[in-house]
Amino acid sequence: MQIESIKRIYANYSYFYDLLFKQFFYPRQRHVIQTMKIKPNRKVLDVGVGTGLSLPVYPRHCYVTGIDLSTEMLKKARQKVERFNLSHVTLREMDAMNLDFDDDTFDYVIATFVVSVVPDPIKMISEMKRVSKKNGKIVIVNHFQSHNKFIAKIEEWITPLSRKIGWRSDLSLDDLVKSADLEIDNSYKLKKIDLWNVVFVTNNKSN
Ligand SMILES: C[S@@+](CC[C@H](N)C(=O)[O-])C[C@H]1O[C@@H](n2cnc3c(N)ncnc32)[C@H](O)[C@@H]1O
Repeated sequence: MQIESIKRIYANYSYFYDLLFKQFFYPRQRHVIQTMKIKPNRKVLDVGVGTGLSLPVYPRHCYVTGIDLSTEMLKKARQKVERFNLSHVTLREMDAMNLDFDDDTFDYVIATFVVSVVPDPIKMISEMKRVSKKNGKIVIVNHFQSHNKFIAKIEEWITPLSRKIGWRSDLSLDDLVKSADLEIDNSYKLKKIDLWNVVFVTNNKSN
């Protein structure tokens, strides 16, 4: 998917995104953010923050930066910042594959339902690692290709269609782990049968 079509798709989603996706995404965001047990004064980056569904969950004792490519999605996130008076949250329009932050800036970097949306997930993860401190925590929540060969094939077939509605269905976690050199602490699903994985990673960069 090209950046321009992603922008167009999510500009359209922005009006009814919460109505459509909150029921699926919010419980998973709440779970991971609570599990992260973020300590006071720590810096958090929420990559592809979208309409800011996750923002009210972050503890007020940390500093949260949310970035997104879509002006319209960010507009909805800004409304939440105002409505909930989230003075610990900053929002910026930015490409996840080219983050405008110094190396080693954040203690926690989180991306929920984004890694299969961007054109180059490996570049996005390498940027997440770069801006995260060494041994910082990276959390990814996403749909990954099934290990069941039959389902995996279907996911490959429907990917041209799913791209048209904003994401790909055939992203392999195993390939991503290998290509992006991810050191996984924990990877699981919230329910026995679930479309989404929760992946906790320690940033293993060498310097
Ligand atoms: C499925 S939504 C997920 C939003 C939010 N993380 C959530 O869990 O509700 C995907 C988001 O990724 C954003 N996005 C897509 N490509 C991006 C990029 N290259 N850089 C930053 N954000 C991007 C979209 O604009 C959209 O807001």
